Amino acid sequence: MVAMPELLFSGVKPTSTPHIGNYIGALKQWAEIQHRYQCLFCIVDLHAITVPQDPKEMRERTLEIAAIYLAIGLDPKRCTLFVQSEVHEHAELGWILGTLVKMSELERMTQYKDKAKVKGENVGAGLFNYPSLMAADILLYDTTVVPVGEDQMQHVELTRMLARRFNSTFGETFVEPQSLVQKVGARIMSLQEPTKKMSKSDESASGTIMLTDSPDVIRKKISRAVTDSGTDITYDAIERPAISNLLTIFHHATGKPIKEIEAEYAGKGYADFKKGLAESVVEMLSPIQKKLDEFKSDPGELARILDAGRDAAQEMAAKKMKVVMERVGLGRK
Ligand code: AMP
Ligand code: TRP
Repeated sequence: MVAMPELLFSGVKPTSTPHIGNYIGALKQWAEIQHRYQCLFCIVDLHAITVPQDPKEMRERTLEIAAIYLAIGLDPKRCTLFVQSEVHEHAELGWILGTLVKMSELERMTQYKDKAKVKGENVGAGLFNYPSLMAADILLYDTTVVPVGEDQMQHVELTRMLARRFNSTFGETFVEPQSLVQKVGARIMSLQEPTKKMSKSDESASGTIMLTDSPDVIRKKISRAVTDSGTDITYDAIERPAISNLLTIFHHATGKPIKEIEAEYAGKGYADFKKGLAESVVEMLSPIQKKLDEFKSDPGELARILDAGRDAAQEMAAKKMKVVMERVGLGRK
């Protein structure tokens, strides 16, 4: 018997330009492991509208994310790159899974709780039901591996639970996926508030380095990054969260072990360290930015890649939905 290839699925919301947290926590590992799996990478626009978006800007950003996928090295010959809303089965299965998940389970989701804290009573129902749609994205393709940042692990856990619940209610249909997170860097923190994760909604703040920031902006943001008291450049995530976050970024930008970076800067000051870090981040991002400009300037090629991705994803999704409809008893024979 031929073993089924493992399938990998992940996605990014076109809510704003991705930042180095997205890159280090998720995108970077996608590029590294794409050759080991059959891969689908999605631009999850249906998730993006769980908070209000400007329609015109969102369409532009959808293409920008596609260009970023290519610029970080995802190979469209190996990976299916597509836009979530162009494959209608995502929304359909999302609805069905929304009938299986319990309010109490959704209420426990940290991402929802954090947003609800800010929005209070006015938090949207789409934000609440967000994990059902994410589970649909994953389960539609019999995904086995979901590489994400740490903040999404809880959603993948819920996806596993929904797969089990569906299977025990309607018969074996879905595969239970595993999340895959970086050992170091699954949660990059804000440069300004190192106890809060770096986030797209902090875009204007100097706490977030966007993938498209110019070298000067990167240098400025890093030179202004908050540091811990004392002068030691040593990793201790609990006692020294600011410097530990910067060391994590340094590690990802250079590939050097954290211990080696600590040794290199032993006895030196924060200013030297930040200079070295800034140059490493500039070096990490500059080839990506160069490729990004190239891909952005060829919208025809981007469109061809996304059309082909949509068709390939659609074919897989349609097959699965046929089974799901039958199992649940939806529609006619
Ligand atoms: P999003 O922009 O929310 O669609 O996130 C895209 C990917 O980036 C997801 O896999 C997230 O888990 C990951 N991610 C977002 N913020 C961070 C962060 N601060 N550190 C590490 N990974 C992150
Ligand atoms: N919720 C994810 C985030 O905010 C994005 C996402 C949507 C996703 N569907 C997915 C990630 C499926 C992995 C698999 O980052």
